[in-house]
Formats: sequence, structure tokens, C-alpha cells
Amino acid sequence: MRSWICNKSQLHHFQFETMVSSAKGKVCVTGASGFLASWLIKRLLECGYHVIGTVRDPGNRKKVGHLWKLPGANERLQLVRADLLEEGSFDDAVMACEGVFHIASPVLGKSDSNCKEATLGPAINGTLNVLRSCKKSPFLKRVVLTSSSSAVRIRDETQQPELLWDETTWSSVPLCEKLQVIQNCTPDYISA
Ligand SMILES: NC(=O)c1ccc[n+]([C@@H]2O[C@H](COP(=O)([O-])OP(=O)(O)OC[C@H]3O[C@@H](n4cnc5c(N)ncnc54)[C@H](OP(=O)(O)O)[C@@H]3O)[C@@H](O)[C@H]2O)c1
Repeated sequence: MRSWICNKSQLHHFQFETMVSSAKGKVCVTGASGFLASWLIKRLLECGYHVIGTVRDPGNRKKVGHLWKLPGANERLQLVRADLLEEGSFDDAVMACEGVFHIASPVLGKSDSNCKEATLGPAINGTLNVLRSCKKSPFLKRVVLTSSSSAVRIRDETQQPELLWDETTWSSVPLCEKLQVIQNCTPDYISA
């Protein structure tokens, strides 16, 4: 099993195309109700995949109603309950899958006062939970983790236009702390 950390653009152009070009198996998309996951599920269904989407409440029509309107959803989409904060919660969802796109993550606005605690804990422990479930799955070939540009773009050298941002150029933790940047929380200097 191989895994990557990628940004939105890489997810679209690289891992997605690679996964889609292989035989059409069953794939799991975590956080199915979310923005990125919903677009990914649309593409996967269009390509003929059987998709297992995880959400915290499959019965919440307000959150998942749009997914059931996607072409192919009635035939090849299954929504199952899983929570990032519960160990083993993703076991069933990934068990029969060849691929997993882990996208679920708490995404908070800057108005949330406990942004750091509410974001980092579930994001880190949730990713570990999903990976532990993946490790138990006998058919799994590939895991794609969705990261954020905040993981790589907060650097002293950011102004250099030729700088490539990837897993060799992680954001500077001291600079993030200085600028009060927390992944998924929009800092003032970006929203201004
Ligand atoms: N949007 C972008 O343009 C963009 C770009 C680059 C990277 N990203 C990254 O991609 C990820 C998803 O972003 P998004 O914009 O799609 O966010 P989003 O629309 O808020 O979707 C996140 C999903 O995660 C699920 N989730 C939250 N807490 C959970 C928990 N405790 N257990 C299980 N599921 C939980 C939620 O599903 P339920 O509430 O239904 O359970 C929600 O639908 C984030 O890490 C973000 O930083 C996003």
C-alpha cells in the first residue's frame, strides 16, 4: 500500500487520473458530504466506480441530499456512518475497497474561538484512525490523503516565484505560530 499527501490540484491531475485509469473497483471517500468530496464522488461515479462515502449522519438529507441526485448514485453510491473521533469507525467502509480518498476533516471559520483544538485533534487522530482501518483492509491498493496548501505555503521564502511547494517544503511551524495560522482557519492576512 502506498500513500501520498497532496493538495487539491495534485489530487485532480495526478492521483485521481492514476486511480481512475485502473480497473473499476470499489473506492471509499471520507467526508462525502463535504465540498471536495462531493465533486470527487461525482467524478468517480461518472467513471463507473462503486463509491462508499462516509458521513457522520447518512440520514441527514440537508447534508447528503445533493449526493443522491448525482448520475449513477442510486446504482453505485453507498453512504455509511463513520466518525473521525471513533477508533475503528472506518473499518467497515474501507474493508472491501481498492482505494481510499481521505478527505473528511473539521473545517472551521476564523470566528470559531477554539479553532486550534477543534481542528488539529480530529484532523490528526482522525487521519490515524482512517489509516489504521486501511491497514486492516486486505484488498486496498492505494490511499490518497487530502492536505491543505497551508501545510506547505507558510514559509519565509514564500515570495520566491520559482519555489515549488510539495512535501519537501513544509510550512515553518515558528512562522505559523507567529502569524497565528492554523490549518483550515482563515487567517486575517489571507482574507484581507
Ligand atoms: N475546499 C477547498 O478548496 C480545499 C482546498 C485544499 C484543501 N482542502 C482540504 O480538504 C479537506 C476538506 O475540505 P472541504 O472544503 O471539502 O471541507 P468541508 O466541505 O467542510 O467538508 C469536510 C467534511 O468532513 C466531515 N467531517 C468533519 N468532521 C468530521 C468528523 N469528526 N468525523 C467525520 N467526518 C467529519 C464533514 O462531514 P459530515 O459533517 O457530514 O460528517 C464535512 O462534510 C480539508 O482538510 C481542507 O483543508 C480543501
